[in-house]
Amino acid sequence: MKDKEITVTADELQKQKLYTADVAAIMQVRAMHGTPKALVRTYGCQQNVADGERMKGMLSEMGFEFTEYEDEADFILFNTCAIREHAEDRVFGNIGALKNVKRRNPSLLIAVCGCMMEQERVAERIKVSFPFVNIVFGTHVIHRLPEMMYTAVTDSKRVFLRGHESKEIIEGLPVRRDGNTRAWVTVMYGCDNFCSYCIVPYVRGREKSRHPDAIVAECRELIEQGYKEITLLGQNVNSYGKGLPEKVNFSELLRRIDAIDGDYRLRFMTSHPKDATHELFDTIAESRHICHYIHLPCQSGSSRVLKAMNRHYDREKYLDLIRYAKEKMPDLSLTSDIIVGFPGETYEEFCETLSLIREMEFTSLFTFIFSPRPGTRAAEMEDPVTYKEKTQWFSELLKTQEEIAAKRCASMVGSTERVLIEERNEKNGLLSGRTASSIIVEFPGEDEWIGEFKNVKVTEARNWILRGECVD
Ligand code: 5AD
Ligand code: SF4
Repeated sequence: MKDKEITVTADELQKQKLYTADVAAIMQVRAMHGTPKALVRTYGCQQNVADGERMKGMLSEMGFEFTEYEDEADFILFNTCAIREHAEDRVFGNIGALKNVKRRNPSLLIAVCGCMMEQERVAERIKVSFPFVNIVFGTHVIHRLPEMMYTAVTDSKRVFLRGHESKEIIEGLPVRRDGNTRAWVTVMYGCDNFCSYCIVPYVRGREKSRHPDAIVAECRELIEQGYKEITLLGQNVNSYGKGLPEKVNFSELLRRIDAIDGDYRLRFMTSHPKDATHELFDTIAESRHICHYIHLPCQSGSSRVLKAMNRHYDREKYLDLIRYAKEKMPDLSLTSDIIVGFPGETYEEFCETLSLIREMEFTSLFTFIFSPRPGTRAAEMEDPVTYKEKTQWFSELLKTQEEIAAKRCASMVGSTERVLIEERNEKNGLLSGRTASSIIVEFPGEDEWIGEFKNVKVTEARNWILRGECVD
């Protein structure tokens, strides 16, 4: 069934609407306590979070309310991540723990989806070792959730649906967003880069860009609804536009969104340095709403390692790019992903990463120890450095970055920052939000301010978190 291509048409979505109504009727009767309840747990990246919000949208249409408690749920859905072995192990552990929940509630429906399920070996393991899982599906068929649930409840058969990558993008699915201040908008799906360590191109398929009009319309609607921050999502947003009938690149898309009036911020992720252009930085610098902030993963500071990673840029190109960007925007805030212990990486090459991060002064880093992913090229490479050594390098990296972040935060004391308030920190009772540069700021204030922008004078830096007081 894998690899066969299907086209998703309006008819297909119409068909799903019929299943939606049927499942809604069945679940009303099956539910333990009145209204059926679903628990949706998403692991991994923001793309998965965005998929989770769409599946919650579909479940809402099927009449579900949502719960965080397994014992209250009539339907449990785990939306999984395959990026590193640790993420997979955690998911397997959590699926295993559902066995007892199902024993207590035999009519519970359990589904597992997401990137892990696009791997044959994983789907097979679920089939054999976790017979209490009713539905297993991949990343290309989430719009068929109503149909899969219908089959599972009416035929009492296990449902396995993976592959079926379509050339078309599925527009028009309902979305149930997790908050009402910040929203995620997917601009493209998939990845064509095949970085040698990465499983994503295998589990998310080829790059596909959404039509710019659909993206602009979604952003406009969100801004009208009062959302204050929109993050555009894609594995490599800088290659947005490939394959669209209209010639439009990511910078052009950004300009079209930025033209929408309103009090909001725009961010995007993830950018790939090989496709980040001067035009992109010019666009950010000249925009009204785009944060002077970019997540631009360098992965390594060694040109040799970057080549082995199949990243298509070297240390010099990365440095040149950032030099240009900082000339345009001296206040630019940069974050990055780093992989420590790529197969064959030497300590000297790791030190080149340390020197790069010292030079770049990243606001924060997302750091990972290399994790071999079966099916990728790097998983086959010789890897003589022990895991123990890699963890020592990793600690060295963290320590270096902590010093950089603390220094950067300390330099902000005395400045006034525009902060979008996200929540109240339950531990210390302070409001918590982020600057445009994506640094957390905490300060005393009213609950009604949550979801608003406030100007905050920074009075103290606590490592990489700022404290301050509201000045308007
Ligand atoms: N091992 C370790 N880190 C990885 N990443 C992706 N694949 C792997 C892997 N096999 C990291 C990269 C990427 C981030 C999302 O996860 O740094 O940018
Ligand atoms: Fe993975 Fe590279 Fe694609 Fe990012 S750009 S998803 S690291 S293959």
